[in-house]
Amino acid sequence: MAVTAGLSVDIRRKRFEGDGRTPPHTAIENLRFDVPVGQFCCLLGPSGCGKTTLLNIAAGLDHDVDGSVGIPADDAGPRPAVSYMFQTPRLLPWMSVRDNVDIVLDPDARAEGRGVRLLERMELGSYLEAYPTRLSGGQRRRVALARAFAIRPALLLLDEPFVSLDQPVGNRLREILLDLWQAQPTTVLFVTHDLNEAIFLGDRILFLSQPPSCVVQDVAVDLARPRTPDSPAIHAFRTGLLDRHGGLLAGLAGATTDPGHSTP
Ligand SMILES: Nc1ncnc2c1ncn2[C@@H]1O[C@H](COP(=O)(O)OP(=O)(O)OP(=O)(O)O)[C@@H](O)[C@H]1O
Ligand SMILES: [Mg+2]
Repeated sequence: MAVTAGLSVDIRRKRFEGDGRTPPHTAIENLRFDVPVGQFCCLLGPSGCGKTTLLNIAAGLDHDVDGSVGIPADDAGPRPAVSYMFQTPRLLPWMSVRDNVDIVLDPDARAEGRGVRLLERMELGSYLEAYPTRLSGGQRRRVALARAFAIRPALLLLDEPFVSLDQPVGNRLREILLDLWQAQPTTVLFVTHDLNEAIFLGDRILFLSQPPSCVVQDVAVDLARPRTPDSPAIHAFRTGLLDRHGGLLAGLAGATTDPGHSTP
């Protein structure tokens, strides 16, 4: 049976119980959407609306939820692999760059040099034996990105992976991400606060509400690829989107602020 959904989200409620220091909090309510196989889907929503919570559930790190997040598997196939790139790169400081990627690989993939090839593609070929503490912030994200792709995931979860990088570094990493995604197609759920970044990267943008969060707008980004960061096409798409939905999107994660913002 062919699998058509890369991800099926159906969360009736995700609630955090209070612990005496914090009150109980319902982070997500009636959040439902499907992502087709191979789609690059961006998630945009205000801080604290539950984006990381959703990725944690999708990654299988949090099972305490009323509802489900499914990664449909082909009946005949093995369980689909899921990669999760956290907002901070979370490299193992006592391991070299090469070992930080190799650690997720099985011995065959390691022996045939898949990790090293990915690192070379990330322009880190001369840093294979370096320790993460010797790398810049952008280089650490490259290692984390190589590690995320190394297991050839069916689903790739990315939580604001390029936040707080300067514009040229961020743009280069976005290009590398798109190159890899095209070379190694996978379903992507990419969390961002940056509408321009979402338009540059995504096939689709889901806008989430204030908590308890649900989808308030589902937008197809029908711009041809390759796209150019900060191009007139990106700006025109953004302006059109805000003209059509500005009221609804008001206050959501930089969607209506700073229209001259230039990332990417
Ligand atoms: N382990 C936890 N226990 C209690 N509350 C939590 C826990 N984790 C998250 N929350 C709460 O759930 C809400 C959603 O948090 P989450 O980290 O998912 O937001 P976010 O949309 O990723 O925000 P940001 O854009 O700032 O990263 C927040 O109000 C947060 O305080
Ligand atoms: Mg978050």
